[in-house]
Amino acid sequence: MAILVTGGAGYIGSHTCVELLNEGYEIIVLDNLSNSNDEALRRVKEITGKQFKAYNIDLLDKEHVTNVFKENKIDSVIHFAGLKAVGESVSDPLRYYKNNVTGTITLCEVMQQFEVKKLVFSSSATVYGASGNNIPITEEARIGATNPYGRTKHMIEEILQDVYRSDNEWSIALLRYFNPIGAHKTGRIGEDPSGIPNNLMPYIAQVAVGKRQELQVFGNDYPTRDGTGVRDYIHVDDLAAGHIKALKKIQITNGVDAFNLGTGKGYSVLEMVNAFERATNQKVPYRMEERRPGDAAICYANPSKARKLLGWQPTRDIDVMCEDTWRWQYNNPNGYEIVKETNKASKSPVQQHAADFLMPK
Ligand code: NAD
Ligand code: UD1
Repeated sequence: MAILVTGGAGYIGSHTCVELLNEGYEIIVLDNLSNSNDEALRRVKEITGKQFKAYNIDLLDKEHVTNVFKENKIDSVIHFAGLKAVGESVSDPLRYYKNNVTGTITLCEVMQQFEVKKLVFSSSATVYGASGNNIPITEEARIGATNPYGRTKHMIEEILQDVYRSDNEWSIALLRYFNPIGAHKTGRIGEDPSGIPNNLMPYIAQVAVGKRQELQVFGNDYPTRDGTGVRDYIHVDDLAAGHIKALKKIQITNGVDAFNLGTGKGYSVLEMVNAFERATNQKVPYRMEERRPGDAAICYANPSKARKLLGWQPTRDIDVMCEDTWRWQYNNPNGYEIVKETNKASKSPVQQHAADFLMPK
């Protein structure tokens, strides 16, 4: 029996695939590569020494998603596939609702058809909104996403609650990630944002590697230790481990439950710059800018529910998060792109791998 990983070629998905394979799970990846590169999957195989099937399929394409379930014995699904850029979701909301919400509905319809009722869903701390909640944030906090991306996550959570209400055999974990950063310790897989990074850590890393001139710090007049925004940064491999724990939990209990995946510690933007400089010996020039609209002053998790009910606890501290980010960025200054370019000229195994990536039948 296999675990279907939608969005498995992406940042968090690829790290979770490594963790799943290392734990002995059989996996099947489904991704349309709209925000990822199949080189990531080749490297997952390289890191783990294990093989798996990967389908280049869009979740909205029900016929082909159905074929994946026909061709494979799928036991559970970890559902990462989705669009995630907040600004883009404001300018193109319909694309976000269609991709994220309709994509999830299509997936669940096919799961229902094949009697697969175990699902781990990538939600986000963004469902809590930017203000009005007590810090640290528990799962009971008020929900109030402030942008279309966040609302897709909230809507999907509601839809999944209803799916369970209609059929109590479903078992669903809603994982609300705080701020995933870092990379696999080998430096072979990591976050590869397309264009200008929206998020802090990839931006810092691109300044350090010389791709961008300086960091703009969005606001230094927040009611925080140094005036800059505070967030809960979590190592992507700790996050990946959280998925394994959630997967184990949904094998033994039915229901829908939401879990915060964060460390419970908050770091300001300037503390992150300092931590990165300390861990990597690189200078990160920055200048102060206006606040970014929609930003919270402070957001960090109370992760005790995940500790208690999933037996999950993050183990990597901020120095490890920075070192691992840097190892990935330094060794892959242009992310996975350079590999693609190189492969055009030379017939490397990566090209063969691209052919291995299963196309819809
Ligand atoms: P990512 O963009 O790197 O990975 C998402 C993957 O899904 C990509 O490989 C993309 O090609 C694929 N995809 C998107 N739409 C698809 C579709 N219709 N059909 C098939 N594949 C599709 O993003 P990530 O950072 O790895 O995030 C994974 C999930 O976690 C997303 O759902 C995201 O919203 C959520 N999340 C991410 C963060 C974060 O900061 N990275 C925080 C909270 C929640
Ligand atoms: C953002 C998204 C959120 C998403 C999360 C993880 C917004 C409003 N929110 O949250 O929906 O779930 O990413 O993907 O976009 N910062 C700078 N300079 C930069 C980038 C960021 O100063 O160039 C600051 C921000 O103001 C914030 C902190 O760094 O205080 C972290 O920002 P970011 O990494 O974008 O994460 P979130 O704001 O938590």
